[in-house]
Amino acid sequence: MNVSPVLKVKDLTTRFHTSYGTITAVDGVSFTVGRGETLGLVGESGSGKSVTAMSILRLVSNPGRIESGSVELNGTELLSLDEEGMRRRRGTEAGLVFQNPMTALNPVFTVGWQMREALKAHGRGQAGAQVIHKALSDVGMPDPERQAASFPHQMSGGMRQRVVIALAMLNEPQLLIADEPTTALDVTIQAQVLDLMKKLTHDHGTALLLITHNMGVIAKMCDRVAVMYAGEIVEEAPVGQLFADSRHPYTWGLLRSIPRADHPRGQLPTLPGSPPDMSALPTGCRFRDRCALAQERCKTHPSLLAVAPGHLTRCWVTQDGVTLGASERPSVENARKLEQHAHGR
Ligand SMILES: Nc1ncnc2c1ncn2[C@@H]1O[C@H](COP(=O)(O)OP(=O)(O)O)[C@@H](O)[C@H]1O
Ligand SMILES: [Mg+2]
Repeated sequence: MNVSPVLKVKDLTTRFHTSYGTITAVDGVSFTVGRGETLGLVGESGSGKSVTAMSILRLVSNPGRIESGSVELNGTELLSLDEEGMRRRRGTEAGLVFQNPMTALNPVFTVGWQMREALKAHGRGQAGAQVIHKALSDVGMPDPERQAASFPHQMSGGMRQRVVIALAMLNEPQLLIADEPTTALDVTIQAQVLDLMKKLTHDHGTALLLITHNMGVIAKMCDRVAVMYAGEIVEEAPVGQLFADSRHPYTWGLLRSIPRADHPRGQLPTLPGSPPDMSALPTGCRFRDRCALAQERCKTHPSLLAVAPGHLTRCWVTQDGVTLGASERPSVENARKLEQHAHGR
């Protein structure tokens, strides 16, 4: 069976032209997300994850510019739509959830009013109040009628994020993009909101692009993972494969930083050094200054090549078969369990 993906991003490049130089925030990024599939996009702060999300929905504004590439949503090229066509697709075909729920909510209107506006904007103005109440009940709001009459500031952060998810899912989009959706929430609430997103996207067959810097969230939520470093994808694999046989030294750093039940508590290893200056990228492998395996050949920029079906890496050394020692690898099951019990930490 060869089903075409809901989202197909190809060679996407977005730059910011600033007075202090040109920043290539997203540099030739390609990936797909299928129906009902969750793709995780993981990497340190500043690696280009949010700009990737904003580029897909064409929300990048001056001084940023999408310079090249293709973004297909259900077979439609988004980068060549006019602004009106794009506006119609946001919300109807692609929902968006940000880290801070208040960026998506208007403080001066009730939750119910905002949901009705979202229905109207997509030609569903006739829908009755019960549609709104059901959407709120689906995201676990205990008293939907009362919540619909509330203002965002009368709710807790977790409840607000549930409202944002209800809004994003209201018009049943085929694609949901969630950018660090739980980072701003308490750990106890984080697990609940992730469980909720998992259930909703599963029930509706929604393609989910989930952006996070947390490998535990990746283990718990994702089918496949794309690892970003300095604007590029450096590794992509099914989640089990990434944990069992990662082939990029940067991913190894992320894996080593996961808290482990079988290791004494204490300081987690962190990657030495810092990511490169995005306005003055080094030649060759962008990770080479921080990499214990760096060699002469790493002065040539590595291509993203397959090491197994569905498993790609941008590393000359590991493409030859070098892998992370078993004792240093957290198992995906443990990472998942830890994330499940995050409130116990
Ligand atoms: N409005 C902007 N103007 C200039 N540079 C920006 C702007 N937004 C993002 N960038 C740069 O783009 C790069 C990627 O940022 P971002 O996608 O937000 O990273 P992440 O989400 O992975 O933390 C960073 O170097 C950041 O400084
Ligand atoms: Mg971000």
